[in-house]
Formats: sequence, C-alpha cells, structure tokens
Amino acid sequence: MAELSRTSKEQFDKQAAHYDSEWNTWSEHTLTWLVKAAAPKPSDFVLDVATGTGFTARALAGLVSSVVAADVSTGMLEQAASLSAVAGIENIQFVEAPAEELPFDDSVFDIVTCRIAAHHFVSIEDFAAESYRVLQPGGRLVIVDTSVPDNDFLAAIWQNEVERLRDPSHGKNYTVREWRKILGRPGFEIVTADDTAGGIRIPLTSWITKAGCTEEQEKEVRAKFADASQNIRSRYSIETDEAGETWFTWLRVSILAVKPA
Ligand SMILES: C[S@@+](CC[C@H](N)C(=O)[O-])C[C@H]1O[C@@H](n2cnc3c(N)ncnc32)[C@H](O)[C@@H]1O
Repeated sequence: MAELSRTSKEQFDKQAAHYDSEWNTWSEHTLTWLVKAAAPKPSDFVLDVATGTGFTARALAGLVSSVVAADVSTGMLEQAASLSAVAGIENIQFVEAPAEELPFDDSVFDIVTCRIAAHHFVSIEDFAAESYRVLQPGGRLVIVDTSVPDNDFLAAIWQNEVERLRDPSHGKNYTVREWRKILGRPGFEIVTADDTAGGIRIPLTSWITKAGCTEEQEKEVRAKFADASQNIRSRYSIETDEAGETWFTWLRVSILAVKPA
C-alpha cells in the first residue's frame, strides 16, 4: 500500500497549485449530486476522504456541524486549508491520512464522502472496510468516481491503461457491479449505485496538462487515443472538433450506501 500511496502523494503534490481551477467546471454536477445524496443535517459530523483541494468538504461545511478533510497529499491539503480560510470557513479540520488506514475511532462519523478519488486507492477493499468502521450505525457513505462499463471488459482495460499512462498514480476504475460487491463485503446496504447519471466530457489536452505529463507520456496517451478501435471510439464518444481538440467521455458512478442501524 505504501508505495502507491506515495505515488499519489507525489502526483498530487505536483498538481496541487493548479488543480482547483481546472477541475471546477468539469465536476460541479457531481458535487451537487453528492451533497443532495448525503442528506446533511446540522448536527452531522462528516469525513471527506481524499479531499484534494477540499471541494466536497467546503460544500458540506455550511450544512453540518463539522468536517474532517483527509488526504495523502500535503500539497493538496495546504491548498484546501488556504481555500477554506479565504472562504471564511472554520469548521473543517485537515488531516494527512490514507483512505485505507483512517486514523479515527470506530463509529464516529454520520457521513463519509469520497469524490473522484477512489480510482487512486491502493486497496478499495480497505477503504470500504475503514469507511464502514468509522461510520455510526445508520451512517451514509457517498461516493462519486469515474468508472468503467460493466459489460465491456476490453473497453475497461483500455480505459485503465490510458489512465495509467497519463498518471501512474491511477489504480483502477471499477464497474458498478464491482462497487456493489466491494461495499457489500463489510456490510453496507446499497441505496443507489449506478452509472446512468451521465458521463464526464473531457478535452484531451487539458486532461494531459492537468496530470503534468512528460512529452513521452503525452505522446503515448495521444497515440492510444489515435489508435483506438471503432468500439472504443464509440464507447467513449471520442471525437475531434474543428479546432483539432479531441474530446472523450468517461462514465461516472454515483453511490449512496448505508451502514445498517
Ligand atoms: C482527483 S483528486 C480528487 C480530490 C477531491 N476529492 C475532489 O473532488 O476534487 C484525488 C485525490 O485523492 C488523493 N489520494 C490518492 N490516493 C489516496 C489515498 N490512498 N488515500 C487518501 N487520499 C488519496 C490525492 O492526493 C488527491 O488529492
């Protein structure tokens, strides 16, 4: 676990300063869904796992009692703390911690959230078990992440490969069926788990830039898109616009799971 966490840490320390502005417009709808699904109450105590620059933590802070925002990247946590100070938010506490080994007592949180990050985790099973452990009975786990199609293994393999070429800290995108299995193991009841809520449309150039790719990585990623089969092109709606920009769409999984009371 330590090795890949360190890769994520390095990758996101590198991205921290410019991460926020580039993701903001791409990901607002996922945040809206997540906040609604979490059904926050003023007395709730929230843990946002892999908080990054703190989008989710800030969105929930005004609606709950307090938020703990955890991440492995010091750089991301520094950005999150600074953005929260600028917004005048005082009820978020920042903690450097991996999703797979949460340094919190059992049954303390009402809500655990995790947005666009689980595909980096070294062990999604450990994250599921840890989320279950730290949630109170009746507590909600809300996850949004990019995902891969349940019924097209070749497309799933292609997507995970291209993701890893672009960002070596990418672990794996999971299908909805895999998510259901993983979360069922510690005992979560799945309220919603689907990838029908719409995909995330992404311009290739910004996607490459955001990850801080080397020239070599960029070449490999672009070649992978250029050489994609017709099935892959249609599966991911890969298209090049008049300005020469290539666009593609990743599936998005949205999950609400509950620890039984
Ligand atoms: C793509 S960013 C998403 C950040 C944020 N949740 C958001 O919605 O913008 C992924 C984040 O996951 C963090 N991360 C990656 N692996 C992690 C792990 N094993 N435990 C905790 N955080 C991790 C990275 O440092 C990074 O901040």
